[in-house]
Amino acid sequence: MAGAVMVRAAAAHPGIKLCAAADPHAAPRGAFARDFNARAYADIAALCDDPAVEIVYIATPHQFHAEHAALAAAAGKHIILEKPMALTLADCDSIIAAVERARVHLVVGHTHAFDPAVREMARIVASGALGRLGMIAAWNYTNFLYRPRRPEELDTARGGGILFNQVPHQIDMVRTIGGGRLRSVRAQATRLDPARPTEGGVVALLEFEDGAAASLVYGGYDFFDGDELHFWIDERGAAKPPDRHGAARRALAAEQVEETRLRLERFAYGAQAGPPPTHQPHFGVMIVTCERGEMRAAADGLFIYDAAGKREVALPASAAMPGRSEVLDDMIAAIRSGKPPLQGGRWGKANVEAMLAIQQSARERREVTLQHQVSSKPSS
Ligand SMILES: NC(=O)c1ccc[n+]([C@@H]2O[C@H](COP(=O)([O-])OP(=O)(O)OC[C@H]3O[C@@H](n4cnc5c(N)ncnc54)[C@H](O)[C@@H]3O)[C@@H](O)[C@H]2O)c1
Repeated sequence: MAGAVMVRAAAAHPGIKLCAAADPHAAPRGAFARDFNARAYADIAALCDDPAVEIVYIATPHQFHAEHAALAAAAGKHIILEKPMALTLADCDSIIAAVERARVHLVVGHTHAFDPAVREMARIVASGALGRLGMIAAWNYTNFLYRPRRPEELDTARGGGILFNQVPHQIDMVRTIGGGRLRSVRAQATRLDPARPTEGGVVALLEFEDGAAASLVYGGYDFFDGDELHFWIDERGAAKPPDRHGAARRALAAEQVEETRLRLERFAYGAQAGPPPTHQPHFGVMIVTCERGEMRAAADGLFIYDAAGKREVALPASAAMPGRSEVLDDMIAAIRSGKPPLQGGRWGKANVEAMLAIQQSARERREVTLQHQVSSKPSS
């Protein structure tokens, strides 16, 4: 699913040439080889041995991230690694060590922290134009739990559920805007459907070291749809019909095909892509409160609310696939400048720390303090 979208972003990016791919499944492999007249391997090790490959984008299931990143680094490839960076802090450390040993660059992404509106809000907060940051509210309600799933995606112990898949977007967005360094986390998580026995909802309070706070709410139960609060535009930025509540549940219940197969047929590279996005991507509603004003993403720009009223400001010129284009831009900039990307290994590890702290806090019903947080500003 993620790979299919990034392939389209890379194909539209002027700085990238798609030259090879790897997937154990024949259908996406065949579609890729045909569309780009490129090599397609059944095995990631063969992809990493391909001398033409300079950057490897890894969008394999969570449990493979550490192993696959280590393979790519050992082969001297720069790496874009999907969120979450890994499932444990120890695996994050082994990825960081492998990348540093090989002197390659790592960008952990895509997440919605790369969305132009989020980056612009982070820039405004850092500039001080609206004064000190006080709080961030990030809400999203989706059909996550009822899309066709691989078995491990419904098993928390193997990295399933919203804690490992969806909440990392919210953590990354609020850390990007709030400067990066969280002090503590208090959270509760819900498992409401015994037939999908993993977390489908979370409420979390994240405190930043400087006293600012973020509240995260995520519900993946396919009842309320958060896009109702975002102009009926979907996560990718495409227009969405307003009458789809419960549709993922109904479709899943009516399906005769086994879920893993259904997932491949519907979402893998080569399956039919949805309508092209005509607006900015987003991840629910996020309101950022500063001393002298508040902000939220608009359909195409950014709303600023202050003592003078409400105004919409334009976002920087949009790339072909906003959000993912920025991931590719950051990798290209790192390769050209030699400076490590901001959303690199230590940043990704800090997101994983917050994600695991949310899980721990919910389990132990207490506040959890964090030890591995890093700033969103470049170190001099
Ligand atoms: N950034 C986003 O917006 C976004 C969206 C969806 C998923 N993701 C992330 O992308 C990753 C994959 O999730 P998905 O939903 O695309 O899953 P998916 O099941 O749709 O795709 C995973 C792909 O990995 C392949 N694969 C499995 N084992 C492999 C191996 N050993 N070597 C090579 N390929 C292998 C599978 O055949 C499949 O094509 C996860 O980390 C997920 O969190 C990110």
